[in-house]
Amino acid sequence: MNLLQGKKGIIFGALDEKSIAWQVAEKCVEQGASITLTNAPVALRFGKIHELGEKLNAEVIPADATSLEDLENLLQKSMEILGGKVDFILHSIGMSFNVRKKRPYTDIKYEWMQKTFDVSAISFHKLMQSAMKLDAVNEWGSILALTYIAAQRTFPDYSEMAESKALLESFARSFGYHYGAEKKVRVNTISQSPTWTTAGSGVKGFEEFFNYADKMSPLGNAPAEDCANYCVSLFSDFTRYVTMQNLFHDGGFSNMGMNTAVLEWAKEQ
Ligand SMILES: NC(=O)c1ccc[n+]([C@@H]2O[C@H](COP(=O)([O-])OP(=O)(O)OC[C@H]3O[C@@H](n4cnc5c(N)ncnc54)[C@H](O)[C@@H]3O)[C@@H](O)[C@H]2O)c1
Repeated sequence: MNLLQGKKGIIFGALDEKSIAWQVAEKCVEQGASITLTNAPVALRFGKIHELGEKLNAEVIPADATSLEDLENLLQKSMEILGGKVDFILHSIGMSFNVRKKRPYTDIKYEWMQKTFDVSAISFHKLMQSAMKLDAVNEWGSILALTYIAAQRTFPDYSEMAESKALLESFARSFGYHYGAEKKVRVNTISQSPTWTTAGSGVKGFEEFFNYADKMSPLGNAPAEDCANYCVSLFSDFTRYVTMQNLFHDGGFSNMGMNTAVLEWAKEQ
């Protein structure tokens, strides 16, 4: 289909083949784009991103997404390597310090919470602010971040990541206004189903929750590969007037109340 023929992009967050960003990178290249890949320096050491870089003929540029200096370097280098401004960027970054260290939500360590917000949400603002200052994105370019429905509804074990995602989605709307008005760049978030990845499976009770969401959604949980296809459509010219939106990619979960599959499953317990 070559939906992204001639387009250039930057993909954050591919750690291993399970990562949603890994699938997005593969689909973008399959659809004709040239890309650079990036991740935190520590993830470059223990992840498999170099393998993906070789496979897709994509340069890997380290960047801690909380560092403005790293982000500027990444944007400059990407423009040099790809031969001009980029057309799309995927922010696929999430990490909760309190969840990782098993601190309960009602006994949060606030320094960790601030770090969580910085990595998982403020990095999105930093990325867009740096890109705007460097004029690094072409008109009608598309910027996406991945989010989760816990931004709107309570999922207790998601802890402080719920607030991180609420902040992330709000940045998409607020920055989306400024980027649209000044540079005709669109900004959206995709709210994805639970997905088996390093970040996803770090949430307590993930397996049970994954199965519950799968039963509740009329189409079942959306796989990472399909999320990647959705990202491609939002990077393409077929969605040029979609901006400032939080778009659910969840098999219908977000609009469900109850269904027979879940009730029957509850009766069996
Ligand atoms: N897996 C799920 O169930 C699910 C559901 C909805 C949304 N999401 C979101 O999708 C996105 C991608 O996560 P994933 O599930 O593919 O897991 P993943 O663990 O493969 O990806 C998370 C990435 O964030 C990167 N990262 C962490 N700190 C960073 C930093 N300081 N600078 C740069 N990168 C950093 C990690 O190295 C990793 O590559 C996240 O925003 C996540 O919250 C995941």
